[in-house]
Amino acid sequence: MTIIVTGGAGFIGSNFIFHMLGKYPDYRIICLDKLTYAGNLSTLRPVMDNPNFRFVKADICDRDAVFALFEEEQPDIVVNFAAESHVDRSIEDPGVFLKTNILGTQTLMDACRKFGIKRYHQVSTDEVYGDLPLDRPDLFFTETTPIHTSSPYSASKASADLLVQAYHRTFGLPVTISRCSNNYGPYHFPEKLIPLMIANCLNDKPLPVYGEGLNVRDWLYVEDHCKAIDLIIHNGRVGEVYNIGGHNEMRNIDIVKIICKALGKSESLITYVTDRKGHDMRYAIDPTKIHNELGWLPETMFRDGIEKTIAWYLKNREWWETIISGEYRHYYEMMYGNR
Ligand code: NAD
Ligand code: DAU
Repeated sequence: MTIIVTGGAGFIGSNFIFHMLGKYPDYRIICLDKLTYAGNLSTLRPVMDNPNFRFVKADICDRDAVFALFEEEQPDIVVNFAAESHVDRSIEDPGVFLKTNILGTQTLMDACRKFGIKRYHQVSTDEVYGDLPLDRPDLFFTETTPIHTSSPYSASKASADLLVQAYHRTFGLPVTISRCSNNYGPYHFPEKLIPLMIANCLNDKPLPVYGEGLNVRDWLYVEDHCKAIDLIIHNGRVGEVYNIGGHNEMRNIDIVKIICKALGKSESLITYVTDRKGHDMRYAIDPTKIHNELGWLPETMFRDGIEKTIAWYLKNREWWETIISGEYRHYYEMMYGNR
């Protein structure tokens, strides 16, 4: 089995590559990644020498590079993680989100059509469903919840999903789509809530909480997401969407306080800053379908997952310190300087 994993130098893609190479020693995994600011080759160091692994630096929008790789490798499966993934950046500069997330998906699927493929899997997000009100805890996103997007990021991901479904219906491409809730764990880029708060805490810097910190996210340990995708690409039904989430809803402010406590830092570091534009209030996934059809259930409780995550950031300071001391500093200054 040969699998092309796009975006494998990022957070979830790298964790997925580690999972797949560990579980299927006879699979060949090719990582296709442009190495944007969010891609980090050092993340893939543990597998670089694995004879079943190959890294290719390329843009998923580059037709020539993508088609050449497909011709050479004749993949059985493509799992598309490659994306611009940060909501705040999409509010500052939507263009690259539309290009990578929509046109990149089209390029990959065109290659899949030309070279024949057993499965094209699109890694999507629960953000395509928009948000839920805080005063209706009985409501959850199911696979039939209408698409209703808030940010340029979520609009680009939803557009890609529609295109994937169109390629299935029109061209018979064997596709699946997964829509997961917020992930956390090792190799999470420090612009996102949990790693940003861990890094700032460790550096005794202010912890910028948007608005009142009451927004709710449904957190899932990254390994559980990877296991769900593994199940979908092997046993999921073609043409189907699968929601992935672990019924672990938490308010942002509570997450930040947990991190302060775990690191022995004062909550006085918490600073309430101007809210995100169009900020989604609550995400909550109903994972009944993937549970009933594929037997998936999350395995990591939040209290264990956050402990493992914090331990990872403590042990791997060089990984994130290299990031926050480089180009990322300009982004941080622009985003948080006058907030
Ligand atoms: P990330 O930003 O950490 O990584 C994205 C990776 O894609 C990087 O390695 C980057 O270099 C690569 N990339 C970006 N543009 C590219 C291009 N044009 N060509 C090739 N590679 C390119 O993202 P992540 O958090 O790991 O998310 C991965 C996927 O999962 C995304 O599609 C995202 O929408 C989805 N998702 C993320 C979460 C989450 O909580 N992080 C939850 C649900 C779904
Ligand atoms: O739900 C899945 C999505 O989760 C993925 O599709 C996205 O790729 C991923 O980035 C994530 O999006 P969010 O916007 O939910 O994640 P983020 O970590 O940026 O923010 C989580 C919450 O924390 C959100 O309510 C905004 C808030 N926040 C975030 C940052 C970076 C803060 O209060 N302060 C911050 O500095």
